[in-house]
Amino acid sequence: MRSCPLNLRIFQLFGVLLMTATVSSLLPAQSARSEKIVIAHRGASGYLPEHTLPAKAMAYAMGADYIEQDVVMTKDDQLIVLHDITLDRTTDVADRYPQRIRDDGRFYAIDFTLEEIRTLNASEGFNLVGGEKQQGYEQRFPMATSSFSVPTFAEEIELIQGLNRSTGKDVGIYPEIKSPEFHREAGKDISTAVVNLLKHYGYTNKSDKIYLQTFSYEELEIISTQVFPAAGVELNLVQLIGSEDSYRWMLQENGMTKLANHADGIGPEKGLVVSRRSTKGNIEISELVSRAHEAGLKVHPYTYRLDAGQVPQYANDFDDLLRLHYFEADIDGAFTDFPDRVVEFLKAAK
Ligand code: G3P
Ligand code: CA
Repeated sequence: MRSCPLNLRIFQLFGVLLMTATVSSLLPAQSARSEKIVIAHRGASGYLPEHTLPAKAMAYAMGADYIEQDVVMTKDDQLIVLHDITLDRTTDVADRYPQRIRDDGRFYAIDFTLEEIRTLNASEGFNLVGGEKQQGYEQRFPMATSSFSVPTFAEEIELIQGLNRSTGKDVGIYPEIKSPEFHREAGKDISTAVVNLLKHYGYTNKSDKIYLQTFSYEELEIISTQVFPAAGVELNLVQLIGSEDSYRWMLQENGMTKLANHADGIGPEKGLVVSRRSTKGNIEISELVSRAHEAGLKVHPYTYRLDAGQVPQYANDFDDLLRLHYFEADIDGAFTDFPDRVVEFLKAAK
């Protein structure tokens, strides 16, 4: 067992907050820098391993308006914060529980109890190349160092709400229900579990600082028409939009109007806002944002990254990319792995 003692984890968290305190003290309140928002994608995941509590504390201290949680379920129906439905890209599960591998070579969170998941060490994401672990983003936090864990959704909400209490700020949460159909096939209603937990922590209506997101339109409809009424809550819902092929009707002329029956916003892949075909002399901005705004929907594209090769060639640099998307295309917010850079960009733009 390699769990990190609680006092050590608190110390690590405190260290992260102290390190970023200077940044925090220089930040403007959101209202002072327009309504455009910054969403910390999996936390400050450009600097610390994604979806760990230190990465969330760092994002908070950097001035993000919302902090994202991807949520999946364990074998014993606990909600944890994890991007994949599998554990093997971001933990040492393959070393600790080699016999729990499925036929497809993966280790599914849904096959493990929370107690088992708590024994795992989380790390920067990696791929197996010739049997060797190779870090996904080479320049990010070194994969084999320090000690991190997979948090529960409740622990993360308590961290953010606790910081809201101690700082007097009101940072929001931005949970995504991961693979609802996969959970349903395994007999688990993840949406109801998430909404009930949110209600428990006081998120009950659209004025609360929360956007609930999913890639599944079918699930969005179920949440809007069944899960919310059953729980007696009504929260802001965001439809994520991935590849053009899978979401074709939403991208047609009346797609946003239809979507607005159940959604309050969209989270498109950023190439659907400014085409990847764009060049420095010819920026192609789609009609998606204007159609969404006409339908009353917010637009929060993903994912804005600074790493090598992640800034599209049509932009001069990361700030230019942000300028094109926030101010030429008029998006309302952005998911980013580097919340400090986007906060500073918006502050300077103001
Ligand atoms: O939820 C917004 C963005 O996070 C979608 O992409 O794959 O990182 O969850 P993904
Ligand atoms: Ca997500």
